[in-house]
Amino acid sequence: MQHLLGLYRASERDIALILQEAAVLKPALLSSPPQSFSFLNGKTVVLAFFENSTRTRTSFELAVRRLGGGTLNFSAATSSLQKGETLLDTIANIEAMQVDAFVIRHGQSGAAEIVAKHTRKAVINAGDGMHEHPTQALLDMFTLHETFGRLSGLRILILGDILHSRVARSNIFGLRKMRASVSVCAPPTLLPVGIEHFGVKVFADISQALEQCDAAIVLRLQLEREAAGFIPTLREYNTFFALTDEALSKVSHKIFVLHPGPVNREIELSSVVTDRDDTSGKSESLILRQVTNGVAVRMAVLKVLFHDRA
Ligand code: NCD
Repeated sequence: MQHLLGLYRASERDIALILQEAAVLKPALLSSPPQSFSFLNGKTVVLAFFENSTRTRTSFELAVRRLGGGTLNFSAATSSLQKGETLLDTIANIEAMQVDAFVIRHGQSGAAEIVAKHTRKAVINAGDGMHEHPTQALLDMFTLHETFGRLSGLRILILGDILHSRVARSNIFGLRKMRASVSVCAPPTLLPVGIEHFGVKVFADISQALEQCDAAIVLRLQLEREAAGFIPTLREYNTFFALTDEALSKVSHKIFVLHPGPVNREIELSSVVTDRDDTSGKSESLILRQVTNGVAVRMAVLKVLFHDRA
C-alpha cells in the first residue's frame, strides 16, 4: 500500500493485514507504561488538519510517537492559506522541508487524492468532505472484530445522517469487503441518492432495523453541513431515529453501540445509551473502546505504509 485514501479501493488483504497488525500492537499500547517501537525512528509525519478534529488528530499524534516518529502539526487557520496560498503549494512547501508522510483532513471530498497525486510522500486520508474516512472505518471494524471474534456474517446497522457521512461510506465499503452485511436507517432525505447500489439494505423504521442487527454504528447529525435543513425538527428526528432506551425496548436481543464521535447527546443518541458500557444491559456502548482502538489501528496503518514504501 502506497497511500491510504479510502476503503473503496483497498483490498480485503490490506484490510485484514491492518486489523491483524493492530491486534498485535494493542497490548503494547495498554501496558503500563505503554511500550514504544522504533519503526518510524527519524521519520516526520505532518498532521495537516484543514477541518476541526479532537479524536483523529490526537490519535494519529500518539500513534506516530508510539512508533518512534515525530509529528509536525499544521493548523490551517493560522497558515498562509489565509493569504490565498493553494492547498497544493502549501503541501509542496512542507514537503520541501523533507518530511515523510502527510495525514490530511479537509472539507473537500477528494482532497487527499489530489494531494497524493502531487507528492512523492505517503498520504493518509483522515476525512475528506463527505467522501471517506478510512481509519475511522478500520477502527470500527477492529472494534467489531474484537467484540464478536469475526466480521464475516455480522449484521451491522448504520443509523443516522448517512448523506453527509464519510464514516458511513468507508464503513459500507470496508464491512462489505470483509463479508459483513450492512444496513442503513435514516429519514429518506438523509440517504444519498442511489444508496441501494451500495449493496446495503435500507430501513425506514428503526425498530425493524434494530431487530435485524448485531451492532449499530450511530452517526452524528452533521449540523455544520446543514443537516438540520433535511429534517422537520431536531425533536422529530430524535423521536423517530435516535437510539434510545425506548427504541431498544422493542428489540428482542442486546445491541452493541458504536459512534465515531463527537456525540450530539440527546439528538442521535441518548446519554443513557451513550454511557451504558456494562455487559449485562440491553445495549453495550463500545464508544470509548473505539477511541482506544483508534491508536492501535493508526499505528498499524503507519507501520504497513512505511513498510511497503521502504
Ligand atoms: C467523524 C468525522 O470527523 O468524520 N468523527 C471522527 O473522525 N471521529 C464523524 C463526525 O464528525 O461526525
